[in-house]
Amino acid sequence: MPEVAIIGLGPVGLATALGLAQNGHQVTGVDVDKARIGKLLRAESPVYEVGMEEELNRALSRKRFLPTPDITDTSPKTEFFFLCVGTPSRADGSMDDYPIAKATEEVAKVLPPDQRPIVVVKSTVVPGTTELIIIPILEASGKPFGVAVNPEFLREGHALEDTLRPDRIAMGFAEEETGRRLRTLYESHTCPKVETNLRTAEAIKHVSNAFLATKVGFANEMANLCQRLGVSYDEVMKGVILDDRINPKFLVPGVGFGGSCFPNDLQALVAAGRGAGYAPPLLEAVIRHNERQHLEALRLLEEELGSLPGRRIAILGLAFKGDTDDVRESRALLLARDLQDRGANVVGFDPVASRKFRQLMPDVHLAGSVAEALAGAEGCIVQAEWQEFQELGAEDFLKSMRTPVVVDGRRILDPERMEGVRFRRIG
Ligand code: UDX
Repeated sequence: MPEVAIIGLGPVGLATALGLAQNGHQVTGVDVDKARIGKLLRAESPVYEVGMEEELNRALSRKRFLPTPDITDTSPKTEFFFLCVGTPSRADGSMDDYPIAKATEEVAKVLPPDQRPIVVVKSTVVPGTTELIIIPILEASGKPFGVAVNPEFLREGHALEDTLRPDRIAMGFAEEETGRRLRTLYESHTCPKVETNLRTAEAIKHVSNAFLATKVGFANEMANLCQRLGVSYDEVMKGVILDDRINPKFLVPGVGFGGSCFPNDLQALVAAGRGAGYAPPLLEAVIRHNERQHLEALRLLEEELGSLPGRRIAILGLAFKGDTDDVRESRALLLARDLQDRGANVVGFDPVASRKFRQLMPDVHLAGSVAEALAGAEGCIVQAEWQEFQELGAEDFLKSMRTPVVVDGRRILDPERMEGVRFRRIG
């Protein structure tokens, strides 16, 4: 089994590392964040991910996974280097290529000269990045290498599951020898595989994300419209999804999409389009629309409560969605800020994301349980799709809230179980 190195141990890198370790590879995981490496060595996952800690424990005890802050710890027999570092946006929305370029420089220093290793780009990069930035850095090393683009489509929170059982694998490469070795690496996966060139593989990831984000944005817009036009979004969709061209997934309206991928990647794609002389108006509108979608929840709250000053409002779910502790671009941040601006006393609760939320908004009071968050509240907004929230019924709200006004910002509560609650939802 080829030895592999993973550069960057966020959700993508870690899931990739553990997936390959489970398949029998010897994996070295490199991350410049020493605190993160320390946690990994103690078998603690630095991010909340379903099943990650168990798998981490297994890989460490079998000695299949070596986390290290030092890239020179990678084996001279390494055949694949996976670039899994983040690709954040610059202030103008364009992709900041510094982290990926820096990681590539580090890899270039340790490329084993006699292995012709393959550098695999898993980070989400705008089309052209591998050819224009990564390959020139590797070429400057003077050592032989192959290069591939192999984007990751995993969902945060379910990163491991999606890595172990992907719905498809996209492989971009320029040389047949690289393709052959990648095919062998992934031969145990039976899902559909698409082989293409480097730029197209980069674009497959961006276009997938852009489509899904647009789909959510479309659902939100239709839900907002249906509500004003006096029709039920659910009833409308029952008829719409009978069309076999319309897949019902990702059409759940709510307070808008967040996370490290959709908002960031859309911005990067728009900026790349602008740079190439085409400012994509639809995607620009999706971004703008999403920045205001959380206001629908505030509108519903105000319709029920009148004004908000002095009222205690609970936000259930601080992460950008359920099953994760990631608060990046979480709509809870926008909701808390706008509620505070309107004079409300905000109290938040999340099963796992409170610590990360507090770092960004230290002035929001955080509760230790749903019941504590709801105690004395006059309004509640459900912001993330946690199972614990899905199970809430009218009694949970009625027993502790001062005024039982509940706005379901993710459509996870059962309206049939809300008798006695002043229950509203988007759509
Ligand atoms: C996404 C893509 O799904 C994944 O393929 C890609 O690799 C990374 O980006 P992720 O950011 O983890 O994954 O979250 P996802 O589950 O896709 O949800 C994104 C946001 O959209 C969340 O805020 C979620 O609450 C929201 N959403 C999703 C909706 O509002 N409605 C939906 O129907 C689906």
